[in-house]
Amino acid sequence: MAADGAPQVTEPEETEVSEAQIAVHWREEELYRPPPKFIGQANASDPAIRARFTEEHFPDCFKEYADLLTWDQYWHTTLDTSNPPFWRWFVGGRLNACYNCVDRHLETRPNQAALIWVPEPESEATHAITYRELYRRVNEFAALLEGFCGLKAGDRITFHMPMVPELPIAMLACARLGIIHSQVFGGFSGAACGGRIADSGSTVLVTIDGYYRNGELIDHKVKADEAVKRAHEEGMDVDKVLVFRRHAGQYASTTPMVDGRDYFVDDVMPEYAGKVVPPVSMPAEAPLFIMYSSGTTGRPKGCQHSTGGYLSYVAGTSKFYQDIHPEDTYWCAADIGWITGHSYIVYGPLALGTTSVMYEGVPTYPDPGRPWRIAERLGVNIFHTAPTTIRMLRKVGPDEPLKYDYHFKHMTTVGEPIEPGVWRWYYDVVGKGEAAIVDTWWQTENGGFLGSTLPALEPMKPGSCGPGVLGIYPVIYDENGEEVPAGSGKAGNICIRNPWPGIFQTIWGDPERFVSTYYEKYCRNKDSTDWHDWPYFANDGAMQAADGYFRILGRVDDVINVAGHRLGTKELESASVLVEEVAEAAAVPVVDELRGRAVEMYISLKPGVDPKSGIEDKVAAAIESEIGKVARPKNVWIVPDMPKTRSGKIMRRVIAGISNFTDVGDITTLANPEVVDEIRVHVEKEKVARGEAPRELTEAEIEEIKKFGQAE
Ligand code: PRX
Repeated sequence: MAADGAPQVTEPEETEVSEAQIAVHWREEELYRPPPKFIGQANASDPAIRARFTEEHFPDCFKEYADLLTWDQYWHTTLDTSNPPFWRWFVGGRLNACYNCVDRHLETRPNQAALIWVPEPESEATHAITYRELYRRVNEFAALLEGFCGLKAGDRITFHMPMVPELPIAMLACARLGIIHSQVFGGFSGAACGGRIADSGSTVLVTIDGYYRNGELIDHKVKADEAVKRAHEEGMDVDKVLVFRRHAGQYASTTPMVDGRDYFVDDVMPEYAGKVVPPVSMPAEAPLFIMYSSGTTGRPKGCQHSTGGYLSYVAGTSKFYQDIHPEDTYWCAADIGWITGHSYIVYGPLALGTTSVMYEGVPTYPDPGRPWRIAERLGVNIFHTAPTTIRMLRKVGPDEPLKYDYHFKHMTTVGEPIEPGVWRWYYDVVGKGEAAIVDTWWQTENGGFLGSTLPALEPMKPGSCGPGVLGIYPVIYDENGEEVPAGSGKAGNICIRNPWPGIFQTIWGDPERFVSTYYEKYCRNKDSTDWHDWPYFANDGAMQAADGYFRILGRVDDVINVAGHRLGTKELESASVLVEEVAEAAAVPVVDELRGRAVEMYISLKPGVDPKSGIEDKVAAAIESEIGKVARPKNVWIVPDMPKTRSGKIMRRVIAGISNFTDVGDITTLANPEVVDEIRVHVEKEKVARGEAPRELTEAEIEEIKKFGQAE
């Protein structure tokens, strides 16, 4: 901050700028100091913690995280780098993740709630599941997985579950036996689930008949039938579908149960009631779960996470960055179908023995006061959500938080860049000026946080995540691998120079893609076993201010971040061309006031097809059925031809420019530059008529649009 208290202004630099080193200028934001009351009780309040995690103490600094766990056998090697970039952490160690999240808390806090589940209908009672009760239910389900399904350590199982307590219970039951779980986001379609079943080689699917969203009991079992069918088409047969029931004894779906394949869990369970299954002692390096995420190509990547490294990392970051103590009531309003839910609803918080709140439904149902009512009633003191939710809550109920008597000590924002104005509303109104905020930057691949401030020790800066977290040494490289220095006013590709315990082990079934996507770009010597030669390429653009804080600008690959969901352009395009009339499809991001980005599809039709036959709806429906409702495009534009280079490549940045009302850039290299104006006139006119002309974009947004589609 300047001496007079006015925010600093970064002056534009007069430098020549390459494609990779885009210059981004914005106002430097004012720093916010953490509240003294928060500092007084924080897990990390001694600045010495930073010194313990500096590079000279790497990798042994992570012993501090691993020591938060109970090991059956201590490890002999902290980090084995002999087969880069397939790092191995805590080698020789053995532990059980379920034991660490459940059993070991029985002695100290058997009657404390481990999970509090809030159903969406307010007429339904909230359920508190104590550690003792969690232990019983996890054991019973583990017994069922073993006895009824015949599953054992190393086998894979797919869950397609919404936010109900049966999901973490089933995950922990798998962890107890060493079964590798793969939870597919409940909002994804049956087809998307089926593809992931086939890729992971799961023989069992766990689902539920229905769940509540926006006041409606949604039929979910119907997706299981589609999933099994799709998995079969892709060469994988599911033996058993286990169906939980949202209301005991009732069936919320219209789809028949398939004889010999589908089983209601509550029908099978009595045989396993009261059974106890000993936790299986797993090697630290055994996979704990797979989590699918989108990338540049059409096929989702199964990110494989380890047991010892992952659990240590989420326990450590939950303690120091989420500031979780066992006596806190912690509510992460993410979905367990995403990595945030795995790490920061289930594994991290439960490893620390706290109370973790889960909410079934939509935050604004039945009214925008709902989250604050939940917080007030349950005494939530740590709150964790995403910018898209914050924007929505601000829009529909800007003063609602002030009507409720809750007090957060700590809040998190995660998943997409947050606009400083939205951040300030979060701080002033949701946090009532009393809470420390962490803006945590990370990815499905990473297991846990990569960039964030230490909440009691480092000031907050709206819109910036902060420095690398403990033991993470980020760097920004340009396209040629030259370091882009802090304070240079230039952006580049953010990388992590070192391995860390939470990093995923590989892409399930595709180690080559693992190496080529994340390590090839900046590897200095592929024969080297020195980790310094293998920086991790995060596929995000970022810049670093002079004070060392990173501002994340978004993806540099062809991924569109819609309300925190990573959607691959290729997945969207492949779904669109399933529509018979469609010849070609291109997906682009459009800046959206609430969801960060929305998807727009551009479609060209096969010769002779009449464009007036409801093709837009068919494309939207195909995307919904292949991926899920989250991917539904905001608009589908039918164009006479796609703008293409002479080599036939669709220029996505040109249509992205049109969708966002920004400059389309140089079009002289196009084979058909004349279509650009034609498309622009049509799209702009339609958008203005629909009231969709965007607000003025920030410079960073303009740069993102300009570079879109350049990843190939
Ligand atoms: O572009 C970054 C953005 O979300 C991407 C990761 O998405 P996913 O794997 O679905 O994981 C989301 C939750 C960890 C990143 O590559 N992103 C994530 N967190 C932030 C962010 N962008 C800006 N600020 C953040 N705090």
